[in-house]
Amino acid sequence: MTTNKRANFGTKLGVILASAGSAVGLGNIWRFPYMTGEYGGAAFILTYLGCVLLFGAPIMMAEFIIGRRSQSNTARAYQKLAPGTQWRWVGRMGVLAGFLILSYYSVVAGWTLEYMVDSGIGTFADKGPDDFVQFYNSFVSHPWLPVVWTIVFLLLTHFIVVRGVEKGIERSSKVMMPALFILLLILAVCAILLPGAGSGIEFLLKPDFSKVDGSVLLAAMGQAFFSLSVGMGCLCTYASYFKPDTNLPKTAFSVAVIDTLVAILAGFIIFPAAFAVGIQPDSGPGLLFVTLPNVFQQAFGNVPFIAALLAVMFYILLALAALTSTISLHEVVTAYLHEEFNMSRVKAARLVTGGCIVLGTLCSLSLGIGSDYTLFGMTLFDFFDFITAKLMMPLGGFFISLFTGWFLDKKIVREELTNRGTLRLRIYGLIVFLLKFVAPIGIAFIFINELHLI
Ligand code: PHE
Repeated sequence: MTTNKRANFGTKLGVILASAGSAVGLGNIWRFPYMTGEYGGAAFILTYLGCVLLFGAPIMMAEFIIGRRSQSNTARAYQKLAPGTQWRWVGRMGVLAGFLILSYYSVVAGWTLEYMVDSGIGTFADKGPDDFVQFYNSFVSHPWLPVVWTIVFLLLTHFIVVRGVEKGIERSSKVMMPALFILLLILAVCAILLPGAGSGIEFLLKPDFSKVDGSVLLAAMGQAFFSLSVGMGCLCTYASYFKPDTNLPKTAFSVAVIDTLVAILAGFIIFPAAFAVGIQPDSGPGLLFVTLPNVFQQAFGNVPFIAALLAVMFYILLALAALTSTISLHEVVTAYLHEEFNMSRVKAARLVTGGCIVLGTLCSLSLGIGSDYTLFGMTLFDFFDFITAKLMMPLGGFFISLFTGWFLDKKIVREELTNRGTLRLRIYGLIVFLLKFVAPIGIAFIFINELHLI
């Protein structure tokens, strides 16, 4: 395959679904609830929504502009649009971030497979909240079981990426997204109807702004970038496969809305359920996995078959949502190695998968037998999450907004956003204003505030 004959996404719906498939994943259903729980509920959610609107959505458009204009992987993109400058480091940092995220993300994706199997064979039948906590703790600290699932998940991702862009990604997204959404709706209704769910709803809806400090701002900003897959070149790489008539602002807007809805819906499952059975909202990365089995048990416990069926369906859909995200992460690194180092796609993909298996194994072990080894007081798993979501992605977003807002020729920006003048775009001025001023200043302010840079 040569670099100038690049694959394309087949249909318009395919474009939105593939980008939304990248965005919607564990970030919405696993990470969003535990971040919300850790950083105080409604006030965190509102801050997060602000970050999506002011930083996430415009920077997503910027990535689309850069990707489609340059028709390249994220590192080459900057070389093409800004030859001989240092901007290419933004692309390279994104590739590194993608590699690190894929490593620890696959660990959690692997957990969903274990939970799918356990729900199917009836491990959770007749069990209660304490049993689920114990199950989770002993599972994640098991010396090899979660490692095996991590590797299985990475291999699944590998084979889809090797089969190519259109067939693999587009097909899987089309079926799974609507199904996941419907099942989430059903589970939210079940959770809200549990006795004692009211305080969970209050936690989600009643903001306490006295809780918003620098750490909440940084966490909400990180969550916005992570959840939207923005700031590390993922959507830039996808946009290089977009067609000339893809409506970039509309696609970005649709993806941001879908992604946010899924996250909020996940919140309406987790918190009512957690409060109903007495789980602390700040239980950390295990929150989803200790809370959800209660919903299935409490709502459908009398008919164990239905409880098991719904649970298996849910974990399959969650694993698929995670898969469309891991595919996009893998693709960023694979496209980079394939195009920059002149290796075949298969070889590039093998290198990525191999590297992630090594790092993913270490991340998984850091939650159990390796928990004594810490970096800056964090396990390797938490450290990878911290440097990618809270540092590299917002930093990438900062530079992407500067690049598009200030460096890139305005003619290019306008041409891409309006498809060479064929689309009417009333908010063009607003988008440019957000990219030029609001996003970079806002991100810098949050960094300075929380990381004590000055
Ligand atoms: N946005 C994905 C999720 O929410 C994770 C992701 C981050 C995917 C960065 C690609 C790039 O699960």
